[in-house]
Amino acid sequence: MSIEQLADIAQAMVAPGKGIIAIDESTGTIQKRFDGVGVECTEENRRAYREMLLTTPNLGQHISGAILFDETLRQSTKDGVPFAKVMMDNGIIPGIKVDKGTHALAGFPGEVVTEGLDGLRARLEEYYKLGARFAKWRAVINISDDIPSGTCIEANSHALARYAALCQEQGLVPMVEPEVIMDGNHDIDTCYDVTEVTLRSLFGSLYEHNVMLEGTILKASMVLPGSTCSDTASVEEVAAETLRCLKSTVPATLPGIVFLSGGQSDHDATAHLNAMNLAGPNPWPLSFSYGRAMQSAALAIWAKDLTGNIGKAQEMVFERARANGLAALGEWKA
Ligand code: 13P
Repeated sequence: MSIEQLADIAQAMVAPGKGIIAIDESTGTIQKRFDGVGVECTEENRRAYREMLLTTPNLGQHISGAILFDETLRQSTKDGVPFAKVMMDNGIIPGIKVDKGTHALAGFPGEVVTEGLDGLRARLEEYYKLGARFAKWRAVINISDDIPSGTCIEANSHALARYAALCQEQGLVPMVEPEVIMDGNHDIDTCYDVTEVTLRSLFGSLYEHNVMLEGTILKASMVLPGSTCSDTASVEEVAAETLRCLKSTVPATLPGIVFLSGGQSDHDATAHLNAMNLAGPNPWPLSFSYGRAMQSAALAIWAKDLTGNIGKAQEMVFERARANGLAALGEWKA
């Protein structure tokens, strides 16, 4: 695939007023989400839940793409239509999570590195055949008194760059996700500093690995105080600090940035995105790639009556997509 074709896909992922729904929870993570609402984590329940999400009427009005987990990309609706086909028929680009999760970084207590490079080329080749056109890899950067270390940041940037180069070789747009984790009592300035050094390292590695930024999407965390920090930050402050950090680290060649929600409330995730777009024009489209902030409310509705509440749950999915789509334009009203 040419760089022009990769660039076209990347631009479609951040088309005006559209964003991504992340439904790529690994089996362990979806188990936690299902446990929270009292649903048994069977393969059929996972399939039925993802069918509810992906067949939401008119979802493509506000959703450009969806990130799936390996199992989901191989599944179909109860009528036997592969999810990838359902998505493409509705103008939603299929994406796939390709990392194999985080593992303790030896020698660095409290820090993790994402694994999954072994055999990745062959897996990407198969995912392309199954219909995926972009792929996601999530690195995790924890903040505590003495961390993150430079070694942890570099190890994760290196893995992200190797994965991104492989994606482009195999015709998939890499969505590179260095998530600076919100857990902790650190303040917003610490989050800013860690996010800045992480993004600098990431873009340095992407450059060294010949990754073409025109065909790459950044999935970023926002600059926020830690979840147990005694100081709070206003919507405007979070938006201003996040923009300042991104503008000082992310090349303007990048086709777009999408945010993860990372444990923010639905309202905050939408309000912060809206405020950043209101403060524009920015060098890149800024949109969303939310997991929890797209799904939580709908999951709670669906869980009450797995087959009886599909319509109501889908109305909630659509509402969250519409709200975040408006926030991607700076047109959302609380
Ligand atoms: P959250 O929006 O729930 O943080 O999930 C997004 C995601 O895909 C994290 O990798």
